[in-house]
Amino acid sequence: MLRTVLLKNGLRVHNGKARYFNCRGLGSCGTCAVKIEGEVHTLTEMEKWRLQFPPHKLNSGLRLACQVNVFHDIVVTKHKGFWGERISHEKK
Ligand code: FES
Repeated sequence: MLRTVLLKNGLRVHNGKARYFNCRGLGSCGTCAVKIEGEVHTLTEMEKWRLQFPPHKLNSGLRLACQVNVFHDIVVTKHKGFWGERISHEKK
């Protein structure tokens, strides 16, 4: 899963104290939410369940790193907020 790959490579997938207080990849806490650019599978049932309630929104476009398998190169962005839910809109 993406969460495991990121952590094994020393990259952050949790913000602040969520680093210590998270579900360890069960898909229930929502703190590993990230923006993914690139090809990945559709939302899993667990993601649909967790991303439907606050502070997340199901249509936010965020994914749960602990539920995503990666088979291609992707770009991952971690937004601010305990859950990574504070989406910043980059200017292009
Ligand atoms: S680590 Fe809790 S939902 Fe991913």
